[in-house]
Amino acid sequence: MEWSWTGVLYHPGWVVSTVILGLVVRMQRKGSWNPRACPVDLTGKTAIVTGANTGIGKFIALDLAHRKARVILACRSQERGQAALEEIRRKSHNSNVHLQLVDTSSLRCVRDFAHRINQEEKRLDILVNNAGASGLPKAMTSEGLELSFATNHLGPFLLTNLLLDLMKRSAPARIVNVSSANHWRGVVDFSHFHGENLTYRLDS
Ligand SMILES: NC(=O)c1ccc[n+]([C@@H]2O[C@H](COP(=O)([O-])OP(=O)(O)OC[C@H]3O[C@@H](n4cnc5c(N)ncnc54)[C@H](OP(=O)(O)O)[C@@H]3O)[C@@H](O)[C@H]2O)c1
Ligand SMILES: *[C@@H]1O[C@H](CO)[C@@H](O)[C@H](O)[C@H]1NC(C)=O
Ligand SMILES: *[C@@H]1O[C@H](CO)[C@@H](O)[C@H](O)[C@H]1NC(C)=O
Repeated sequence: MEWSWTGVLYHPGWVVSTVILGLVVRMQRKGSWNPRACPVDLTGKTAIVTGANTGIGKFIALDLAHRKARVILACRSQERGQAALEEIRRKSHNSNVHLQLVDTSSLRCVRDFAHRINQEEKRLDILVNNAGASGLPKAMTSEGLELSFATNHLGPFLLTNLLLDLMKRSAPARIVNVSSANHWRGVVDFSHFHGENLTYRLDS
């Protein structure tokens, strides 16, 4: 049979595979999820969201503010944090939203932040460890820790532990860690903790 474009375009296989694809997509489709449909009210509760100036963290903080919680945005940039603070207050009509600076890659910063929270807050009901980053450059912090590991794990781990007593006193309290499916691919090698023997995806 002679090859022709129209022959390829009108081949019945296209119809069959399009119908199969359509069915698969339909089967995979989940019902829409609307967090606002959940009626929980957080009046009287205090929440901290790290990395709350953008992305997932900002959305979580806005939702908690809508539910009337006292919300502390824990951000590393005064400027970006202030912009989010104003946006969240305006959209939620909740003025009980506050900004506290913290850089999760610095243990000293985390200690200072936790100290301020422990001094100033009467209770802490929700801690969302959301701040994090992937694809950071190969670098060490001034405290001698590998930058990605310090930012995503050591800082949040220290923070959680320093706030734990306050949270226990506020029981029932909740800690939420925002993670990544990529963690399945990792293995623990203690030599990595100080940046030794690490390979980075971007290394050539
Ligand atoms: N989106 C995804 O598909 C995905 C997938 C897997 C995991 N995650 C994880 O989910 C979390 C939120 O993701 P996202 O998409 O919302 O990310 P994003 O838009 O990049 O926001 C990350 C937030 O973390 C803050 N942050 C980063 N490093 C920080 C540090 N050293 N100290 C304090 N804050 C820091 C950022 O602050 P600045 O604005 O100042 O940089 C920002 O507020 C992250 O932990 C991310 O690793 C996301
Ligand atoms: C969340 O992070 C904290 C601090 O790193 C850790 O102690 C806790 O086990 C984590 N929770 C879960 C469910 O992984
Ligand atoms: C780095 O890896 C090499 C080879 O696996 C190993 O011999 C060495 O001990 C590692 N370095 C550290 C600090 O663990």
